[in-house]
Amino acid sequence: VPLTRVEVPLAADMSNRSYSIFIDPDLGAEARAADEIARRFAGVPLGLVSDDVVGALHGGRYREALESRGVRVAYLEVAAGEASKSLDTVGEVSERLVELGLGRRAALVALGGGVVGDLTGFVASIFMRGVPWVQLPTTLLAQVDSSVGGKTGVDLDAGKNLLGSFWQPRLVYADLCTLATLPPRELSAGLAELIKHGVICDAALFERIERDADRVRAPKSEEERALLAELVAWSCRIKALVVGGDERETAVDDPAGGRARLNFGHTVGHAIEAASLETDAPLKHGEAVALGMLAAARVGAELGKGDASLEARLHALFPRLGLPVDLDPWLRPEVLARVAVDKKRTGAKLRFVIVPRLGESATVELTPEALAEMLRRRKAG
Ligand SMILES: NC(=O)c1ccc[n+]([C@@H]2O[C@H](COP(=O)([O-])OP(=O)(O)OC[C@H]3O[C@@H](n4cnc5c(N)ncnc54)[C@H](O)[C@@H]3O)[C@@H](O)[C@H]2O)c1
Ligand SMILES: [Zn+2]
Repeated sequence: VPLTRVEVPLAADMSNRSYSIFIDPDLGAEARAADEIARRFAGVPLGLVSDDVVGALHGGRYREALESRGVRVAYLEVAAGEASKSLDTVGEVSERLVELGLGRRAALVALGGGVVGDLTGFVASIFMRGVPWVQLPTTLLAQVDSSVGGKTGVDLDAGKNLLGSFWQPRLVYADLCTLATLPPRELSAGLAELIKHGVICDAALFERIERDADRVRAPKSEEERALLAELVAWSCRIKALVVGGDERETAVDDPAGGRARLNFGHTVGHAIEAASLETDAPLKHGEAVALGMLAAARVGAELGKGDASLEARLHALFPRLGLPVDLDPWLRPEVLARVAVDKKRTGAKLRFVIVPRLGESATVELTPEALAEMLRRRKAG
């Protein structure tokens, strides 16, 4: 199976911050990743950051691969989980990096999912006023979504991702063998974002997933990893294209929505995710986004502007991938009221992403009240 390389072109800026994403489906990827890192950072001490779960599973072979190439590695772990995306952890990691002897000439490497990636990227953007960094994403979500586009950051008590920076990595190396240890629900959650990329940008990707859904659930064999590698690369290419055209999400005039089109499914999804966190059966972000995509498909159809068959197609696909479809119980007023506090709204109206035809996106302006009304009407009817 060939190693795939996807370029993330960030053409808007004069300084060249474009970078490559490697998608490696074969065993022994740590050696090839370490070659790429050592080549770029000869003589530079590295801070390798992971979480305690990923570190125990995959940290050793990455440390060895780097050290055996003569790279000096300062290794540290944070606790697994969203709570590590905090300002406290930023302080602790930074103090520890200094203790371990890293300074201005250092580079950081994030080995883990989106939490480790967002945290480490943010530290890299401010440590010694900014050092280069590399991402080794180990969740499907990180491989298809969070490692593309350079958004880094941590959470505040007031909300998620409220503190951050745009800081592009120098390299992303996705080792698909890490997915063999990923819990199935985490894999499904990543698939939701992958599907989203197909829905808003490329009907052929969506149709490919529809055709092969039953083979991507547990990537254990070489053949399944090859299929997943193809889907991951496809998905990265789409996100790279969207992000490359609108790095800082400022293209408000783009009828297709610019980078903001990536919010498809996220307006209602975030509300459901937040509400679910207060129950004893919290949803994963990707699971909530799956429900949010069903809601967005429904709203598009209600408006007479969206693909009329999208909701049914998503509804048929999601269970095959371990994703939820039970939207209606979430359409309660107290859940939908959370849409109004979504930080991405502009003024009183939401810029809501819909899908006019599979593979295309558009935005409509809606008040949160109109959105809630439309979803409730359809639920009743
Ligand atoms: N920067 C962006 O553009 C962007 C985009 C989307 C999401 N995010 C952020 O990403 C975060 C979510 O990322 P995530 O879903 O990867 O969560 P995560 O990093 O918390 O990983 C999920 C869980 O899986 C474990 N894990 C990771 N890789 C593993 C592996 N290979 N085997 C076994 N266990 C493994 C982790 O320890 C963790 O417990 C959120 O904080 C979100 O805000 C950022
Ligand atoms: Zn998301």
